[in-house]
Amino acid sequence: MADIMSLYFLIPIAIVITGLAYRLLARKPVPRKMLCCSLQNKVICVTGASSGIGKELSKFCFDHGSKVVMIARRKELLQTLKEEMLASCAEKEKRNSDIAVVQADLAKLEEIDDRAKEVLECFGHVHGLINNAGMSCRDSVEKTSVGVYQRVMTLNFFSHIVLTKALLPSMLEQSQQQQQCWIVAISSLQGKISLPFRSCYGASKHACEAFYLSLRAELEAVHSHIAVCVLSPGYVQTEISLNSTTGSGEVSASSLPHYVR
Ligand SMILES: NC(=O)c1ccc[n+]([C@@H]2O[C@H](COP(=O)([O-])OP(=O)(O)OC[C@H]3O[C@@H](n4cnc5c(N)ncnc54)[C@H](OP(=O)(O)O)[C@@H]3O)[C@@H](O)[C@H]2O)c1
Repeated sequence: MADIMSLYFLIPIAIVITGLAYRLLARKPVPRKMLCCSLQNKVICVTGASSGIGKELSKFCFDHGSKVVMIARRKELLQTLKEEMLASCAEKEKRNSDIAVVQADLAKLEEIDDRAKEVLECFGHVHGLINNAGMSCRDSVEKTSVGVYQRVMTLNFFSHIVLTKALLPSMLEQSQQQQQCWIVAISSLQGKISLPFRSCYGASKHACEAFYLSLRAELEAVHSHIAVCVLSPGYVQTEISLNSTTGSGEVSASSLPHYVR
């Protein structure tokens, strides 16, 4: 009896120690400096590059030496951004062809494979995909239509899957040539915690987290050089609130204070 009782205590302790050891030994963080240096000469595709977080990430990658393929629906904004990025670049002439623009509506899942082909035609391959394009939705479960759940899931979740699957073969090829690659997902704190009136947005981000964590485990299991990184920002002041939808599908540019948007 005493032996059985001690097992009750020992098994959970063993599980906790194994978990801690795994975290400490298997998941060594990549030093920040190394990440920045290794962006040099990489081809990075950024979705939702026309504003907010995607715009800044595109500039960051370009400033650190990457070739950038920027995707969004508003092509004119992407062209303006391209000109701005080149204007502030010291090697303007040399890097003139390091930025490409692909117009795409990622909510049209059936068109994504063709847009991915356009992305690959820009530089021949990709080393990085930043899946950032997304939209928000705020309303109660009661007032949110199933159609709006589908719309938000289509952009925030299914478009990530389709584009990732379309570009993954190129990254696996690069990985086989010992090239470091990245798949970065811009999730949200709401992919980790659930809030009232955010069931739609939160569910799409939770789904993303699960998808990318499974993908990471699969790519680690085959010892690929493809890192999968899920970023979960808190509030960032961008256009996201302006483009947010209500449960009935209307744009909900709201006068609510930013901390509840
Ligand atoms: N801002 C925050 O507080 C916050 C916090 C956590 C996570 N995030 C996440 O960060 C990501 C970027 O959001 P943001 O804050 O930077 O918002 P944003 O300024 O509204 O940017 C959204 C981007 O997504 C693109 N987009 C929207 N619908 C699209 C579609 N159907 N096809 C292709 N592109 C589309 C938009 O470009 P076009 O309109 O030109 O297509 C725009 O470039 C989102 O995934 C969001 O969930 C934001």
